[in-house]
Amino acid sequence: MYPSLAAAKAAVIAIGEEIATYGLPSGICPIVFAFTGSGNVSQGAQEIFKLLPHTFVDAEKLPELSAGKSLPPHHQSTRRAFQLYGCVVTSKDMVAPKDPNRCFDKADYYAHPEYYRPVFHERIAPYASAIVNCMYWERRFPRLLSIDQLQQLMKNGCPLVGISDITCDIGGSIEFVNKSTSIERPFFRYDTSTNLYHDDMEGDGVICLAVDILPTEFSREFVAMR
Ligand SMILES: NC(=O)c1ccc[n+]([C@@H]2O[C@H](COP(=O)([O-])OP(=O)(O)OC[C@H]3O[C@@H](n4cnc5c(N)ncnc54)[C@H](O)[C@@H]3O)[C@@H](O)[C@H]2O)c1
Repeated sequence: MYPSLAAAKAAVIAIGEEIATYGLPSGICPIVFAFTGSGNVSQGAQEIFKLLPHTFVDAEKLPELSAGKSLPPHHQSTRRAFQLYGCVVTSKDMVAPKDPNRCFDKADYYAHPEYYRPVFHERIAPYASAIVNCMYWERRFPRLLSIDQLQQLMKNGCPLVGISDITCDIGGSIEFVNKSTSIERPFFRYDTSTNLYHDDMEGDGVICLAVDILPTEFSREFVAMR
C-alpha cells in the first residue's frame, strides 16, 4: 500500500528508530529472526530486516544469547532490548546424519536425505521469535517443522510469535501451513493447543503469513526498471 519502495523502507526505518531509542519490553527479548536458506528470497527478506537495528548471530550462539533470559532484568545486557537478532539457517542447521560417525555433507544430504534426521526443532526453533521460511524444499527432504514438533515447542514455552512462510509449500516444510493467504488478508493464526485455525489475530497461537503470489507486489520502481 506504500506508493514506493523507498516509502515502505522509510516506514520500517521509523520503527527501527523507535526500537533503538526506547527499546523493547525486556520480557520478549532477545527477539530472534531465523531466515532459512540464503537464496534470492532470503536475501530480499534480510535486506528489509537490515533496515532495523540488528546483529546477525551464528546458529551455534543462539542458546547463549537466549540464556541471559533467566537473569533478573538488571543483570541482562541492555543491548538486547535495543535491537533485533538475525540468524541465517542453512541445511547444516536443519538436519544431522542419522549415523553419529558421519559428518554433515551438503551434497550427500541432497542426494540421500533419508540418511539424515531433522534437528531444526532442537537447534533453532526453541530460540526463534520469528521464522522467515525462504528455502527450496521437496517431499523427499525432512520437514523443517512438523505439527507435532511445533505443538511440543509451544508447550515448552518457545518464544515463537510468527512464521512468514514465503516458500508457501502447502503442507510442506512447515506442516501446519495448510492454505495460502491473500494480499488483502495475509495472516492466519494457528492455535497449537487446540489444533484450530483462525482468521483473527486476537488469541493464542502462531501467526502465519502464507501469501503465494508475492511477485505480484513488485514495487513500482522495479516495474519501471524493467
Ligand atoms: N510466496 C511467493 O510468492 C514466492 C515468491 C518467490 C519465491 N517463492 C518460493 O521460495 C522458494 C525460494 O526461492 P528463491 O528464489 O530464493 O530460490 P533460490 O534458489 O535463490 O534459494 C533457495 C535456497 O534454498 C536452499 N535449499 C535448496 N534445497 C534445500 C534443502 N533441501 N534444504 C534446505 N535448503 C535448501 C538453497 O541452498 C538456497 O539457499 C522457492 O520454493 C520459490 O518457489 C515463493
